Amino acid sequence: MQAFLSALLSLNIQLSSFGGGTTLLGYICTQGSINSARICFTCHNFEYQGSAPASELASCGLDVSQLNRPDRMQDNSAHDRVNPVKGAVVFSNIVTTISPTYAQEVQTAEGGRGLHTTLNSYSKKFVGVLNGIDTNSWDPLTDDFLKVQYNADDLQGKMENKETLRKNLKLSSADSTQPLVGCITRLVAQKGVHLIRHSIYRTLELGGQFVLLGSSPVEHIQVSFLLSQGIYIHTFYLMISMRYGAVPIARKTGGLNDSVFDVDDDAIPLHFRNGFTFVTADEQGANSALERAFNHYRKSSESWQQLVQRNMKIDFSWDSSASQYIDLYEKSVARAKSSKRA
Ligand SMILES: *[C@@H]1O[C@H](CO)[C@@H](O)[C@H](O)[C@H]1NC(C)=O
Repeated sequence: MQAFLSALLSLNIQLSSFGGGTTLLGYICTQGSINSARICFTCHNFEYQGSAPASELASCGLDVSQLNRPDRMQDNSAHDRVNPVKGAVVFSNIVTTISPTYAQEVQTAEGGRGLHTTLNSYSKKFVGVLNGIDTNSWDPLTDDFLKVQYNADDLQGKMENKETLRKNLKLSSADSTQPLVGCITRLVAQKGVHLIRHSIYRTLELGGQFVLLGSSPVEHIQVSFLLSQGIYIHTFYLMISMRYGAVPIARKTGGLNDSVFDVDDDAIPLHFRNGFTFVTADEQGANSALERAFNHYRKSSESWQQLVQRNMKIDFSWDSSASQYIDLYEKSVARAKSSKRA
């Protein structure tokens, strides 16, 4: 069962009608009757709620007057529209999202995109479970997309891949130790485009090289390089990047707050410290994290290498997430059964 769930979870099934990144997963307890089936709604990104004219419900054979109500599917800001993500929150038995911090953020006016009041009133059934990655397909030791495979105990291949990347992108290879900063993101306002732009300039000033892999809904800034599996930094890709030996520079927000811990933060146990973080989304914040990363890199290659090795060995598999999900599902089914007996 655990393996099956892991597989389901890592499949990351997307329902396109919700605009991306939303998973609707019903959990049917095999030992019980179908009547104890519960619904768990997992949402990756509350930015995309897919609201639509309420009248469209009728074309699906649904009762508009029953569903287009403030306590059901009605969009919180447009009363002639229904919001499927809100409906899912209201009607599901459990609602989950990608990390504990993100679950907190979307319950605030700033982060909730109009859904914070709904998420707040259902906070009892709303849980953040930190995502994992499929560590079998994302493994630098077996990854065929890499020119040279490598692992934490033999980083020579990583150096060679860095050189190949530079050559392919016509970046200077004169200094093999020159730091290379990578960024993979969608270039939308939510992801802090101004900070990325700033970081590019700051990186060059600090003597580094910067590689950006991005896509944008705005055509003229559509920069979609086909790099594949080079260096990854941002949200969900963070775990992949670390498994491949990147050191993250990240703002303490959402899932990043739950997985990146600052190398210089004495309050964090040493073995958890894995990157460079900043709190406020402004240029000073980004500068300070970038500069500390560069200093650390230049001060001691040995200590940097230890950091790289430690990051590559972190367990980012779905095991821990899957067992938290199973726990949630089983508790929910148990509640359903006991309320039926009562
Ligand atoms: C980051 O996580 C910590 C504990 O894990 C939490 O106390 C803190 O509020 C989070 N930070 C943000 C910005 O949400």
